[in-house]
Order: sequence, then C-alpha cells, then structure tokens
Amino acid sequence: MIELLAKLVAVSGVSGNEEKIAQVINEEIKAYVDEIKTDAMGNLICIKKGTEKRIMLAAHMDETGVIVTHIDDNGFLRFSGMGGINHFYSLHQKVEFYNGTIGVISYEEQVENLKDLKPEKMYIDIGVRTREEARKKVGIGDVAAFVGTFAVNENMVISKALDDRAGCAVLIETARALKDNNNEIYYVFTTQEEVGLRGAKTAAYAVNPDLAIVVDVTNPGDTPNAKPSLLKIGNGPIIKIMDRASIIHPEMKELLINSAKALNMNYQLKVATSGGTDAGAISVSREGVPTASIAVPCRYLHSPVEMIDINDAINAAKLVEKAIYKL
Ligand code: CO
Ligand code: ZN
Repeated sequence: MIELLAKLVAVSGVSGNEEKIAQVINEEIKAYVDEIKTDAMGNLICIKKGTEKRIMLAAHMDETGVIVTHIDDNGFLRFSGMGGINHFYSLHQKVEFYNGTIGVISYEEQVENLKDLKPEKMYIDIGVRTREEARKKVGIGDVAAFVGTFAVNENMVISKALDDRAGCAVLIETARALKDNNNEIYYVFTTQEEVGLRGAKTAAYAVNPDLAIVVDVTNPGDTPNAKPSLLKIGNGPIIKIMDRASIIHPEMKELLINSAKALNMNYQLKVATSGGTDAGAISVSREGVPTASIAVPCRYLHSPVEMIDINDAINAAKLVEKAIYKL
C-alpha cells in the first residue's frame, strides 16, 4: 500500500481543485469497479454493481492549502487558508501552485513569540520583484498545496496530504478485495471536505445508500505534551464513536467492533469533542443513513509532515472488507 500512497500524495488536490487527484484515483480503481462518474461538485463516484445492499464508502480527496487573495506592488502574495491550516506549521514552508510555481511562506517581521503570530502578516514569496512579474505566474484565486516530501521509516510514512489520501488508499485496497462481493458498493472520493463536508453532502444524496462507512485520519494525541490519550499510532484503526459532526450509528458500531474481533485485530475507540468527517454530512442526508467513521491514526494533522503507520491503513482496509462481508 506504500507505493499506492506515494502516488496519491504526489498530486495536489486543494479543496475545490480536485481534478488532478481524481484522475489519478480513477486510474488506480477502474479495474475493480463497473462504472465511474463525476458529479458537479467534482466527487468521483465509483460503482461496483451488486444486488444486495447499497453501501457508500467515502474518503475525501481534497487537502488543505492556500488561496491567493491579493498581490502587492512588489509581487508578494497575501493568502487565505483553504481548510483549517495551522499558521504555525505553515510558516517557512514551501507551497506549490498548479503550474509548478513554488512559493515560500514568510512573515512581515521577526516572530519573537509564536503566540503573537498573525495570519494577516504572513505572505507568500515566489521570488519576483513586481506585481507584473508575479501576475505572469499566479493570479487572484489560484490555490497552492504544501510541499512535503514523501518519506518512509520502515512502516512509518511521513508526507503532506496523508489527510486523507491514506483514506483514499484504504478505499482502493478495499475495492480490490471486494471485487466479487454481492453488494452494490459506491466508492466515493469526495471533494471540499476540508472546507465543510460539502462534496459528501451531494454525493450521499445521489447515492442514497442503506449504510455508509467513512475512512479518514485522526490525531491520536500520543506525542509529548499532547492531551492525555490512550490512542496510539500503530495500535490499529480507530473507530470514531463521536466527533463534532456525527455520532456513530449503534448497529454500525457493533458491526465494526465485531468485525475487528473476528479478525483478531487491534482497534481503538475515540470520543472527540472537536473535528468532524464526511460522516457528519452523510449521516443526516435524506432520511438519515446509518454511518460509521474509521480513522487511521495520524500525527501532525494538516502539516506537510503528517505521519501514519502503514499497518493501521492496511488494517483499516481489512476491517472495512470484513464488515461488508458480515452484513
Ligand atoms: Co483534514
Ligand atoms: Zn481528513
């Protein structure tokens, strides 16, 4: 799965600009499904025909990034975050526009105290001297993704965009494993999750599933000084009981826990008071959809150095597969 993940993070897919990553996913999944559609929101909906239940599996393909709001006389760009970017993490990072232009995020003055960091004092430097020069490379409304090289320490993967290309890789793996399953399975790669679960909303309406499972990443809180948490990277997929956007459906909770037990697989349970996944949008679509959310533990979320244990992603795929066979 590491090789697949490397391909998926190599392409930019800032919210609202997911065409390129959709193309890459299309290539990777097409052998395992019968039909692929793209809706007006840009969601990639891949259908494996079947006669039993309609199942929606979702992972978002967009990633956080920046959008240009203003270009000054000297060619420096002001920007706004696309999705919940962390301004501390963003300082002195490289970003890449879709035409390949690289920029550096810097700050108007020396930052003495990170507490005083003001997003409006940050700018992107693309190495030009005038607005005219800048305009040749970048325009207002152009988006850029963070640059974060893909690196591997044995089973640990470090990269930008693991949120949520890890989930996309899990779905592709699942599609490969479920090629001969009798259910009608919709692998949905959603858009605009990072700006408010928007793609999932229209996709869930169109698919009208009997049940849904979302695969995303979540912070385990296992690094020094993090809030106390028993969750750990490498300890298995996390079944999210609750977050700000959704609560797991009781039957889905039972299904997932029983599936993990049947596989003799380590799993973790998380109750979060913040954050949310596409499960929030899907669970309340139409008359309501029994929905669960599985997360791959991921450190340093929304940074160019996100970190996961690939075994958690591999096990997440096995867990989804088992759950569907158990239906
Ligand atoms: Co995210
Ligand atoms: Zn995510």
